[in-house]
Amino acid sequence: MTEGFVDQAVLDQVKVGKGYVAAKYGFRNHWYPAIFSDQIEEEQVVPAQICGEKIIFKRIDGKVFCIKDQCIHKGVQLSKKVECFTKGTITCWYHGFTYRFDDGVLNGIVGVPDSNVIGRKRVRTYAVEEQKGVIFVFIGDEDFAPPPLEEDVPPGFLAEGHVLRGRSQEVAANWRIGAENGFDSTHIFIHKDSILIEDADLALPLGLVPLHNGAFETTEEDGGPKGVHDIFSPETINPVFEGKIEGEIVKMSRPEGKNMLPQTISIWMPCALRVQPWPAPDLTQYEFYVPIDGVRHIYFQFLAKDVTSDKEEMAFEKEFKERWVEKALIGFNQDDIWAREANQEFYADDTGWLRESLFEADGNIVRWRKLADQHNRGIQEPQHVR
Ligand code: FES
Ligand SMILES: [Fe+2]
Repeated sequence: MTEGFVDQAVLDQVKVGKGYVAAKYGFRNHWYPAIFSDQIEEEQVVPAQICGEKIIFKRIDGKVFCIKDQCIHKGVQLSKKVECFTKGTITCWYHGFTYRFDDGVLNGIVGVPDSNVIGRKRVRTYAVEEQKGVIFVFIGDEDFAPPPLEEDVPPGFLAEGHVLRGRSQEVAANWRIGAENGFDSTHIFIHKDSILIEDADLALPLGLVPLHNGAFETTEEDGGPKGVHDIFSPETINPVFEGKIEGEIVKMSRPEGKNMLPQTISIWMPCALRVQPWPAPDLTQYEFYVPIDGVRHIYFQFLAKDVTSDKEEMAFEKEFKERWVEKALIGFNQDDIWAREANQEFYADDTGWLRESLFEADGNIVRWRKLADQHNRGIQEPQHVR
């Protein structure tokens, strides 16, 4: 058993979503955002770790390629000391094994140029897609044909005219704690004193209580993204503005706010959230909780706007930089980051999945666990991260 994976004894006791609990390092054979396009310039080499797998990107003639960040000779990480002698390759700093990025082939050994192994061995490659200013990588089996990226991002994410701006940071919590924090309908309680409430004139309740099972729906058609949506309407959700204990009001939120947002929150395989609209009536927020390993995730946050011209896009970029990064993506969501890191300890040894006491408002989380269990294309196992 490789350290950090879920014990079989825990898995044997899981009643709902066994595959989800097993996916401590994420789901296999899915696309994940890894870095932003502007973090990798021509001929730049950038290492990353996704779902436990150490990988290395290089941009060559504009296109980004990815190989495993491990020399086949004696297993060192190529990124420990980057050495590139030709545009299309990387050379291992230890004994000079050199790999082509496009097909992974060992095409030379700098100090032993006539070696018999040249051209006969290779390092594994990963499929890469660059869309919307983001480098996505397909973490999976090399012989598994990657489905279109559209199937692994929330609907609308890649739409024409839907422009995105984003940021990312590392969070010290398992990726599922991130995902569940985002989709959790009663965690809104942690945001009750957020600086964003007045700034964006929000009517933000203290709790959103689903009235029945119809408060959420699932999307699981073949060939499309798989997800669960909360539908916020007076028939499905009761927004609570007066917080009470034993009938006494103990906390009021701000019902007079002009913007009663969001209208729907949804979660998508393998690890994305969509909040619509948010943090303003003409914007959408997307988040991805990308597993780094069993105890950390990359938190990607994007705001998106539908625009019809470059001028509108530039105006959105200015608003993003000057207002939303500070007030929403950092100001508001730092509550979430704090909560995830504070929640990590309970789930760290995986017995938390057995010890938790969910309540009626967690119905959407349970549905997400079931959907993820049902629609994943595989689970990251110890042999995948060696
Ligand atoms: S370990 Fe890379 S060339 Fe020897
Ligand atoms: Fe939140």
